Amino acid sequence: MIYVHIPFCLRKCNYCAFNSKTSDEPEKNFYVEALIREINLRGDSSKVETIYFGGGTPTTLTLNQLEKIICAIRKNFNVDNCAEITIEANPGTVDENYLRGLKALGFNRLSLGVQSFDEALLKILGRIHDSQTAIETVELAKKFFDNVSVDLMYGLPNQTLDNLRRDLMQIKILDVAHVSIYGLEIEEDTKFFELARADKLPLPDENLCADMYDFITETLPTLGYHRYEISNFAKKNFESRHNCGYWTGKSYFGFGAGAHSFDGKLRTSNVRDVATYIKGNAPEIEEVVTRQAAMEEFCFLGLRMVDGISAQVFENKFGVKIFDVFGEVIAKNCRLGLLKIDGEKISLTKRGLALGNEVFADFLL
Ligand SMILES: C[S@@+](CC[C@H](N)C(=O)[O-])C[C@H]1O[C@@H](n2cnc3c(N)ncnc32)[C@H](O)[C@@H]1O
Ligand code: SF4
Repeated sequence: MIYVHIPFCLRKCNYCAFNSKTSDEPEKNFYVEALIREINLRGDSSKVETIYFGGGTPTTLTLNQLEKIICAIRKNFNVDNCAEITIEANPGTVDENYLRGLKALGFNRLSLGVQSFDEALLKILGRIHDSQTAIETVELAKKFFDNVSVDLMYGLPNQTLDNLRRDLMQIKILDVAHVSIYGLEIEEDTKFFELARADKLPLPDENLCADMYDFITETLPTLGYHRYEISNFAKKNFESRHNCGYWTGKSYFGFGAGAHSFDGKLRTSNVRDVATYIKGNAPEIEEVVTRQAAMEEFCFLGLRMVDGISAQVFENKFGVKIFDVFGEVIAKNCRLGLLKIDGEKISLTKRGLALGNEVFADFLL
């Protein structure tokens, strides 16, 4: 698995704390050169089944810049012919010509950050696009890609259940393959954080957020999207292979500013600042993943998936029974109605899916 981080956006959204900033053409060129240096240095001809260009907004790069990065990856790794190759894109940054170019470069999955189709909410969020542009971009993307995903958010300032209902009806009309839907998190160093601190952000209360959550999890399946992870819903066979790789503990290369890598034992991270990354990146060791930590991760990452974790796979991987290590934690969360056991599968219940973080914390022994 390969992740490539593109830390550039046309404008910073009011809620976003991802490693991204506005930039100019010379800096983008230097960044692409630095990325290629890193890929050339770390390439190891291992087989790659998924590639994910995330951001930021990767589609702020030109097709030519993207081509250089893709070529470097293909030169240094053994990219599977059937690899899933995703790029994140914002409405307002792609046109027909650009989408055709992405397809020609081998991208076969497009993840569009829409957030909401509501005009007023898009303004509050500080998005660069309006609702009509979002709809037109999704329609255009579908002409070139079978595998189009849309990101939405809920729990937004001033958002009502009716707003959310209209967003999901728009998803029904657009009939995309995949939907990710995240509850708004108020992150430090964002405009929303400042507004919330000054008590000037009209967030929906806990009850309304819970109603929104119920509405989403009940409605999307009726539209043909099965929930396969806490925040992710897909038509059959359109689950994100790349993200499933993270949740099942696969190793991955992360290239670019602030990107993380995992080789099965070591977790490393690149320097976050773009200018410093361009000058020369020295990955830092973040964590040596001990056997104990690997067992904990197997559980709390795997449980994010609705199918849950397999006791047999755990035993094959670690040579010990899951109940011998986490027996008490599993029993406690079963008693609380947050986990369930079905044969050799352990998974979150409906209630557990809503309170996932509480369960995951318990697995940190
Ligand atoms: C890496 S971001 C970038 C995607 C793309 N640049 C865009 O915004 O259109 C991926 C997704 O994370 C979600 N996201 C970003 N900030 C968030 C926040 N503070 N709370 C919840 N979701 C957030 C958004 O849905 C966003 O589309
Ligand atoms: S949400 Fe997407 S477009 Fe907005 S600042 Fe974050 S990465 Fe950039």
